[in-house]
Amino acid sequence: MKQYLYIAQGSLEPSKCKIGITNDLNRRLKEYNSTTGISAENSYSYLFAAEVSDMKALEQDIKNRFFYLRELEKREIYFYNLSLFDMYVDFIQSSEHFLKKVLFKDPKKPNIVKPKAVPSMKERGVTRKTLLDKAMRVKDDEFYTRMKDVEKELSMYPAKIWKDKVVFCNCDDAIGVKRDYTDSSAFALYFLKHFLRLKLKKLICTHYGGKVDLFNAGTKGYIFTKEGASEIIETPKGYNGGFEEELSLQILNKQTDIVCTNPPFSRAADYWKVLIASKKKFIIISNITNCITPSFIPYFANKKAWAGYTRVDWYLNPKRIPVRAAGHFFTNFPIKDRPAIKRLKFVPLNEIPDVYQQYDDSGTLLVDKSYIPNDYDRPFAVSTRQILNGVLECGYSIVLKAQYFPYIEGKKKFARVLIQKIKEN
Ligand SMILES: C[S@@+](CC[C@H](N)C(=O)[O-])C[C@H]1O[C@@H](n2cnc3c(N)ncnc32)[C@H](O)[C@@H]1O
Repeated sequence: MKQYLYIAQGSLEPSKCKIGITNDLNRRLKEYNSTTGISAENSYSYLFAAEVSDMKALEQDIKNRFFYLRELEKREIYFYNLSLFDMYVDFIQSSEHFLKKVLFKDPKKPNIVKPKAVPSMKERGVTRKTLLDKAMRVKDDEFYTRMKDVEKELSMYPAKIWKDKVVFCNCDDAIGVKRDYTDSSAFALYFLKHFLRLKLKKLICTHYGGKVDLFNAGTKGYIFTKEGASEIIETPKGYNGGFEEELSLQILNKQTDIVCTNPPFSRAADYWKVLIASKKKFIIISNITNCITPSFIPYFANKKAWAGYTRVDWYLNPKRIPVRAAGHFFTNFPIKDRPAIKRLKFVPLNEIPDVYQQYDDSGTLLVDKSYIPNDYDRPFAVSTRQILNGVLECGYSIVLKAQYFPYIEGKKKFARVLIQKIKEN
């Protein structure tokens, strides 16, 4: 006889769900709807169901793992919100007893759906006055990261990099009660959702109590810590959650294994300084032009950082309106078989079309459009594109740890960086 484990929910009980087992999903649903429904309107439906090899064992594993999320010890009712739901499903699907998903209906998402252009003020918990005040103070870099961009990048790394590690999200990675995009950062939500699958040891997220309050999390900084089943929020006196604050630095230097966040673009140089000095592993978002910007060039030249896998062109502003900014993930984790390397075109100099090669007034070669002259031994100038696509992993190195500004017929052109083929001994 087939065995199933399911998550069901009553339409009038959005903060709870039932996690149970059965040999007959249809019959179980009928039973719920005829006997346990609180009223005719409270109809039950499945949010998730899976065929499993040992339903009793898996049910027991769930009870053991999520004991703190049960409404009553003796009943199969568990607390529900979208991130808890993701966590339950994640746990079930990674169990040795899981066989296949047999039915999946997107949970009702009263608060999440697709980000609306402008969520209601009630949803964001703000008044018209606070919204207007905030809009006035918003700086260009007060954008928040979309979940799909976080997922796209982080899914590229092998799960083993996270095992038993302490992850620190230290640039306003608030975690609110709703645990959705209105009150929590996508980095925080990603690690909460995948905490078990990634076998994380600890997640530490700080909320920055600055002027702009992207997540309506208040003006006080706080530290959220999740370790196993325990979740605590601390609001140390005088702490505003800045990455450069003593307490944040202590967490970074003494506890953290991996840093993951989107720091404010305007503080990027200070942020990188602190981060690189900590010698911790990281996956962060920053401006694509970092690799040709003076404060960052030495990190790329000294192989302290390199591009991650993906570009991030779209963010959401405090009003949840998509805004464009040229960002990219950067990391110091190995990038395996960097897909973007295929975009580089290694060809002899005389095969680079004239429009993509030129010489500046000092006689330095400038190449564009992902071209790399593979028979050229002198330094030549490239733009961000070649660096982000991985040329420094292909036998070339940065030879000038400063920006290179070419002049053509006396006119200053945009900044580049000088690279050169590494000489073979
Ligand atoms: C680009 S947003 C990203 C927010 C969030 N990490 C995300 O990915 O959605 C940068 C955030 O850093 C916050 N911030 C500004 N200065 C900071 C500082 N000194 N320390 C920590 N966070 C800061 C800003 O208020 C803003 O919320």
